[in-house]
Amino acid sequence: MDKPFKYGMSVDNEHFTDRKEETKRLKRNFESGVNVILISPRRMGKTSLVKRVKSEINNDKIKVVLMDIYDCRSEYEFYNRFAETILKQTAQRVDLIMENIKKFLVRLTPKVSFGTDPYAEFSVSLGITPKNYSPEEILSLPEEIAKEQGIQIVVCIDEFQQIGELQDSLTIQKRLRGIWQHQKNVSYCLFGSKKHLMTNLFQNKRMPFYQFGEVMELMPIATADWVTYIQSRFVEVGMTISESFAERICNTVRNHSSYVQQLAWNVMVETDKEVDEESFQNGYRALLAQSSSFFQEQIRTLSSYQLNFIRALCSGIHKNFGGKAVMEQFRFGSKSNIARVKTSLIEKELIEENGKGELVLSDYIFQQWFENEYM
Ligand SMILES: Nc1ncnc2c1ncn2[C@@H]1O[C@H](COP(=O)(O)OP(=O)(O)O)[C@@H](O)[C@H]1O
Ligand SMILES: [Mg+2]
Repeated sequence: MDKPFKYGMSVDNEHFTDRKEETKRLKRNFESGVNVILISPRRMGKTSLVKRVKSEINNDKIKVVLMDIYDCRSEYEFYNRFAETILKQTAQRVDLIMENIKKFLVRLTPKVSFGTDPYAEFSVSLGITPKNYSPEEILSLPEEIAKEQGIQIVVCIDEFQQIGELQDSLTIQKRLRGIWQHQKNVSYCLFGSKKHLMTNLFQNKRMPFYQFGEVMELMPIATADWVTYIQSRFVEVGMTISESFAERICNTVRNHSSYVQQLAWNVMVETDKEVDEESFQNGYRALLAQSSSFFQEQIRTLSSYQLNFIRALCSGIHKNFGGKAVMEQFRFGSKSNIARVKTSLIEKELIEENGKGELVLSDYIFQQWFENEYM
């Protein structure tokens, strides 16, 4: 049997809860060819949601293609991933894929490698380089295939913010947008978690992808939905958890999807039959311990000014960092140093703006851990 609670990978079936509205909206956008930009903090549920919507579309005329580009370090690595995924996911069998490669990318000699098990995944390596194909030709590929097969294709690109990290990124973004926006039979769902990077790519007027599509920000799942889910998972294994402990699990992690599942699992491990204060506390301590080495690594290289800035946030100060009292209590170096400290912590994804012009820590569990260890 699967673990009753699951975290660290995208989830489906019995591990997937709620998201009814988001599923409906994303599905409608996919079906009507509307481009979508999906943003949320990491491990909030983007990948799970997109996979869910993909599985719910059972219309032969719509193909949803899903790729992750987190490890693409250059423009052509991206084009290879792009073309390989599209070719693989728009045909059912290897021979059909090879046929399509011959049809659409005649100048290539692709390599296909199989696993030892005949049913296992196989991989296609196309070997696209600037010598054999131009960016424009590769970027037009889904439109060509869609036209030929008489279908609509939805291309989903996970960790899209990686595009912003490539050398000559602006030129590349102009290329992508220039071609994609004219495609009639293809739409795009671009998603990623590095919020400041995603925001810069899509919500900055000067950037090529500005107003490319509908921006969806994935919010936390509501407590009531989590409580139902958590209680049912406990019942499944013959245990019980009261509504109030289930709510405390949510509150403790501010409903952050992955942490809810992790904490619920920790509490379950500590429980015999029914969750009590002791099993709850033990589960919570385990969560902090499990996260500790990752957090430690995140702050390992921080300067004392940066650490002080985090201390200020933990103390409830969220704006006016240059004020006299704040400067006296927390040492940030000079006043002009504050802007630098802010920018660097935002780039490290440790802090973010909350929409009210205030700065907050991005991860509430990190905050609790930091308060325990460094305050
Ligand atoms: N709809 C959901 N229902 C239950 N748990 C979820 C849901 N979405 C996400 N999670 C939890 O969050 C974790 C991360 O989900 P994932 O889809 O990988 O997030 P992201 O792509 O935003 O980083 C999952 O392993 C799971 O524990
Ligand atoms: Mg993801």
